Amino acid sequence: MTEFDDALADDVVVRRAERADLLDVLRIERTCFTEPWPYSAFELFVDEPAFLVAARGTDVLGYVVADVMPNHGNDIGHVKDLAVRPEARGNGLGRRLLLHALTAMTIAGAAVVKLEVRVSNEPARQLYESVGFNPARRVPRYYGDGEDAVIMVLDLHNWHSQKT
Ligand SMILES: CC(C)(COP(=O)(O)OP(=O)(O)OC[C@H]1O[C@@H](n2cnc3c(N)ncnc32)[C@H](O)[C@@H]1OP(=O)(O)O)[C@@H](O)C(=O)NCCC(=O)NCCS
Repeated sequence: MTEFDDALADDVVVRRAERADLLDVLRIERTCFTEPWPYSAFELFVDEPAFLVAARGTDVLGYVVADVMPNHGNDIGHVKDLAVRPEARGNGLGRRLLLHALTAMTIAGAAVVKLEVRVSNEPARQLYESVGFNPARRVPRYYGDGEDAVIMVLDLHNWHSQKT
């Protein structure tokens, strides 16, 4: 793995995840989370249009996993996982990944998008709020260590009308 060089941020592309990326994704996942997903969980999402990686060459710097579930014509997108390698943070990659995933979910037919985030995860909560997510409710002891989750929701219709 190479050190992230801010000046090379423009060389980073966001693209669909491939099977060949999964070991890098798993390595990042284990660095970032106390309850990391296993390899088999990522395998399930390889064909999802909103499983994306931020990569510089063959080097994976971050990823987002999201999908869309049918809901009687009001399909619901779900951001399930998002992480950027610690040394690559603060360069806009988390935001780029999230925005690409929102676009992919819009194309896949999602009307709203939801996600869960730890109440203590200030960087992620600020990122989500900055793109338009609103806290909807709190789920006590959602995580294995007993921490509460905040459910955040974004209405994609409003999101698009704000962008145009
Ligand atoms: C959350 C995470 C993906 C953000 O990635 P990143 O590449 O550093 O984020 P960006 O550089 O795109 O920053 C986008 C916004 O996030 C927020 N943010 C990022 N880092 C922050 C920090 N340390 N403190 C507060 N807000 C922060 C800011 O709103 C920032 O916007 P700004 O640059 O205009 O201030 C990254 O911190 C991470 O991987 N964390 C560990 C895994 C995790 O918690 N994932 C979320 C699970 S719900």
